[in-house]
Amino acid sequence: PKILILNGPNLNLLGTRQPSVYGRETLGDVERACTKTAETLGLEVDFRQSNREGELVDWIQEARDSHAGIVINAGAYSHTSVAILDALLAVDLPVIEVHLSNLFKRETFRHHSYISQAAQGVICGLGAAGYLYALDALGRRLSAQGE
Ligand code: DQA
Repeated sequence: PKILILNGPNLNLLGTRQPSVYGRETLGDVERACTKTAETLGLEVDFRQSNREGELVDWIQEARDSHAGIVINAGAYSHTSVAILDALLAVDLPVIEVHLSNLFKRETFRHHSYISQAAQGVICGLGAAGYLYALDALGRRLSAQGE
């Protein structure tokens, strides 16, 4: 089974962007760690990043027939995008929402995420390891379903 891992705006700058908040690992490092963990779980990953809301919506729509689950860090769009929420609801795949930082220690505008309504679970504040925990959760769910 193939898992779509989606990263939203500004996550391309990971490693140099507010390292005290987001850490020093780059998005390439996160992708390599995800690929490695996925292998041990018998999963394949399709790892993508976009700064454009519509592109993220397109990728979610396309995943309907090709992917078994979605891990999404929608960045700031988490707090603003009904369009991304609607796309996730439309495809009806298991979704895990990830954030590197602990949203609840930060500004109140980060405390609400539209994405959460479509998510099976939400992982935040555990840094890049959160992506690996999300893959583990999807792997368990898919093997429980016999996929
Ligand atoms: C983030 C948290 C968001 O509030 C922020 O806009 C991001 C990254 C995180 O991974 O902690 O871009 O999603």
